[in-house]
Amino acid sequence: MKRSEGEREPEVKEGTPQEAEDFLDLRPRKLSEYIGQRQVVETLEIAIQAAKKRGEPLDHVLFHSPPGLGKTTLAHIIATEMGVRIVTSSGPAIEKGGDLISILTHLERGDVLFIDEVHRLPKVVEEFLYPAMEDFCIDFIFDKGAHARSHRYRLEQFTLVGATTRAGLLSAPLRERFGILRNLDFYSVEELCQVVKRSAALLGVPIDEEGTEEIAKRSRGTPRISNRLLKRVRDFAQIRGQGRIDKTIADEALQLEGVDEMGLTSLDRRFLETIIRYYKGGPVGLEAIAATLQEETDTLVDMVEPFLLKIGFVARMQNGRKATELAYQHFGIPHAESGRQLTLPTRKKH
Ligand SMILES: Nc1ncnc2c1ncn2[C@@H]1O[C@H](COP(=O)(O)OP(=O)(O)OP(=O)(O)O)[C@@H](O)[C@H]1O
Ligand SMILES: [Mg+2]
Repeated sequence: MKRSEGEREPEVKEGTPQEAEDFLDLRPRKLSEYIGQRQVVETLEIAIQAAKKRGEPLDHVLFHSPPGLGKTTLAHIIATEMGVRIVTSSGPAIEKGGDLISILTHLERGDVLFIDEVHRLPKVVEEFLYPAMEDFCIDFIFDKGAHARSHRYRLEQFTLVGATTRAGLLSAPLRERFGILRNLDFYSVEELCQVVKRSAALLGVPIDEEGTEEIAKRSRGTPRISNRLLKRVRDFAQIRGQGRIDKTIADEALQLEGVDEMGLTSLDRRFLETIIRYYKGGPVGLEAIAATLQEETDTLVDMVEPFLLKIGFVARMQNGRKATELAYQHFGIPHAESGRQLTLPTRKKH
């Protein structure tokens, strides 16, 4: 590799201003600062150390998780830890083969190419990516039919880091070309407490243990939500309180945000209430729920359902989604099935 460790700060290309702000503000920069996901971190530590020891670029990496769990953060951390540049793009932004070729031919040895929403790469683009990932080359075809000639263009060896919220939509040939495939899971309350503490320290907001836990508990297992809620609670504390976050301030601020004690948002609640009240608890198809809520099916699949499945409020059946007893309890609605269970005939003692 042209650059050795620490020789140059990784350059970041593209990215939205919001991302840039998050990146500067609260994103962990090194693996040692990254909270939770112990197995993923350990896999990366080993792979990065081994690649550096051999003086080779890192193998291609694919991260899969619901939004806000740290995929983009890890892509940047990989570049920092490898001491290389990162070039960022996303599946829908790379429309034509030519777009991808122009990105690939500008990569230097070892560079990280981060493609977000990699499941949304157009098929034609994906086909250019296969030889690029596997053999670090692209095949140009000139002319058609009997006069067709192909020319092989060699690329510098790079590392593709892909991120997706829908591993199921990724084509098998693409998935198989990644050497490291990792799923990020929702964070525990303890891990989110660490996220809140770290972010509060960076933002310079005083916060006590109970205030920290209140925000962590209501973050839907997601560090992005912890950071967002922390900022809202900070505002509330500065205007309605003395600037310090405790349990009462956090509770009041989060109620105002429409986040309940389980961390459910109004969309989560509408989703569950639709199944319970409108479809008698289900099973009901996701399209029907989306139509009733007037929301995109994708939004429900990406943003709403994973956490509700994780906490066991929704069950995915062959013929649709069902609200579980826990969901009924959360809303204080009697559950028909548990009622039936209570009236099950008990065997008489003789
Ligand atoms: N392990 C972590 N430790 C501390 N903060 C984290 C961690 N993971 C994520 N964050 C914070 O959460 C925010 C969201 O993370 P990130 O943007 O990496 O999520 P993502 O998985 O890429 O989401 P999306 O699917 O929406 O692109 C980051 O700005 C970062 O501050
Ligand atoms: Mg991201």
